Amino acid sequence: MITSTRAKRNQNMDVEKVFRMTGGTGDNSYAKNSSYQKKVSDMVKHITMDALQQVYLALAPKSLGIADLGCSSGSNSLSIIKDIVESVEAASCKIMIPAPEFRVYLNDLPTNDFNSIFKSLPDFYRDLNKERSGGLPLLFIAGYPGSFYGRLFPNDCLHFVHSSYSLHWLSKVPPSLYDKQGKPINRGSVHISASSPPLVSQAYYAQFQEDFSLFLRSRSEELTAGGRMVLIMLGRIGPDHVDRGNSFYWELLSRSLTILATQILLNFCRGRLKGKT
Ligand SMILES: C[S@@+](CC[C@H](N)C(=O)[O-])C[C@H]1O[C@@H](n2cnc3c(N)ncnc32)[C@H](O)[C@@H]1O
Repeated sequence: MITSTRAKRNQNMDVEKVFRMTGGTGDNSYAKNSSYQKKVSDMVKHITMDALQQVYLALAPKSLGIADLGCSSGSNSLSIIKDIVESVEAASCKIMIPAPEFRVYLNDLPTNDFNSIFKSLPDFYRDLNKERSGGLPLLFIAGYPGSFYGRLFPNDCLHFVHSSYSLHWLSKVPPSLYDKQGKPINRGSVHISASSPPLVSQAYYAQFQEDFSLFLRSRSEELTAGGRMVLIMLGRIGPDHVDRGNSFYWELLSRSLTILATQILLNFCRGRLKGKT
């Protein structure tokens, strides 16, 4: 009965309100601990810029709508926006038309530390202005809180969507990770491990399919015809769900959480025993 209640609570847990990166600029903040994500995005920057230039050269809009979905609060998002602006400016110079105005929408879940991004904007503009003879580009940056698993923007208002290292976050704990009695079927693990039954990977797969379909349906309304998306997310090379480069880290996390939960449970039981004597 307890397990079943807990399972229901987990399934109903409002991921949008609970999960977020650590805000601010302290030692444990996402801002100070996201160089790996920056490296990942840099690795495929040529693909991002190619796709962007193709959209821009084909449509040459006067007002270019760009969204970064799952922007978080470090410098990674503004860094890619800077590259995007400079790349479009270079393209417009080449075809000898004035650069467009840029509408930039930075999206993340409502609990994200958007204030940190806003506070860094003056430095960002100063940086962008460096080594420029002309004036600053017409750049309008806005925070856009909400889940990308659903509609975020009005119809046809975006030309380019960028999302890096965010789309492997599911919208919720997959319901089929629990059996009919509400017991977790992936006991002892918080990930798809070597000991997980096949139903576990099927549960995650089904949730990903549902979420990603919703993501694509929503973006298909918001992107203008001819618009493009660059989506960077975790994946695996082979068919085996367990054979992933970073499963080692999940294993460590899983064990640490199990030890922590056991200690909490032990302290709780000790407290109850003391209360009874
Ligand atoms: C690892 S961070 C990546 C941040 C940034 N793109 C980067 O490359 O550094 C993943 C971000 O995705 C956000 N996220 C997860 N699910 C989301 C959703 N459904 N809608 C919007 N943002 C989401 C998280 O809040 C988090 O800030």
